[in-house]
Amino acid sequence: MTSNPVQTREIAETFDNLAHDRCCKYKSKGLTASTEVLLRLLTENGLVGKAVLDIGCGTGFFALETLRQGASSCIGVDLSSAAIHEANEFAKESGLQDRARFEVANAASTQQPPSDIVVMDKVLCCYPDADSLVKTASTSSSELLGFVVPRDEGLMRPVMRVGIGLINLVERLRKTGFRLYLHPLRSLDTLLVDNGFQKSSKAKSRFWLVFLYKRTGPGAPGRG
Ligand SMILES: C[S@@+](CC[C@H](N)C(=O)[O-])C[C@H]1O[C@@H](n2cnc3c(N)ncnc32)[C@H](O)[C@@H]1O
Repeated sequence: MTSNPVQTREIAETFDNLAHDRCCKYKSKGLTASTEVLLRLLTENGLVGKAVLDIGCGTGFFALETLRQGASSCIGVDLSSAAIHEANEFAKESGLQDRARFEVANAASTQQPPSDIVVMDKVLCCYPDADSLVKTASTSSSELLGFVVPRDEGLMRPVMRVGIGLINLVERLRKTGFRLYLHPLRSLDTLLVDNGFQKSSKAKSRFWLVFLYKRTGPGAPGRG
């Protein structure tokens, strides 16, 4: 499914409105369980000294966390200008601004810099055109690609479908263009395999699946 400019603007507005609260929540509660899992998978597979690209970085706390765990640099991009503002402020507050860069961009329609590791934490479910996001991510990543998506499988599948259906109904009644999407896991896997990646790890939290893919085939860009 492709996106249109109105949808993209409404996604940005939705997360503009949430940016400050999301930042405060992270500062008081730390990473969520699924994000902790993603960070653990990256550290276990070699994060130290790596350049990280966080697509849909929100307020930047995950990207900054990768720096604390030894990544050499991070770049975060997001549709929400308010989230990017918070991310840049947070980088300065943390004294990490020299190794972090946060910018407003639609990663589905723009190329992103070559990086060793690319992550998309709960981003695919917020955007209609998963293929374009996955293509950008896989073109940018020379080693690892991690992402977090709703737990749309097994016994959780009906729960997820009802929950997301209700959220989308509320958004429709509120006449917003924001929707959540359950992109088929098999299509994401096929696209990643076609772009030179193989699944290396899969983990679960209560509501989310965390995947780590490794580059095994050509197409990796050179960094720097
Ligand atoms: C649920 S939030 C997750 C934010 C952050 N990754 C986290 O885990 O806290 C989804 C984010 O993805 C961003 N996003 C969605 N589609 C995007 C796109 N095509 N390009 C860049 N950012 C996008 C949204 O603006 C939003 O900030």
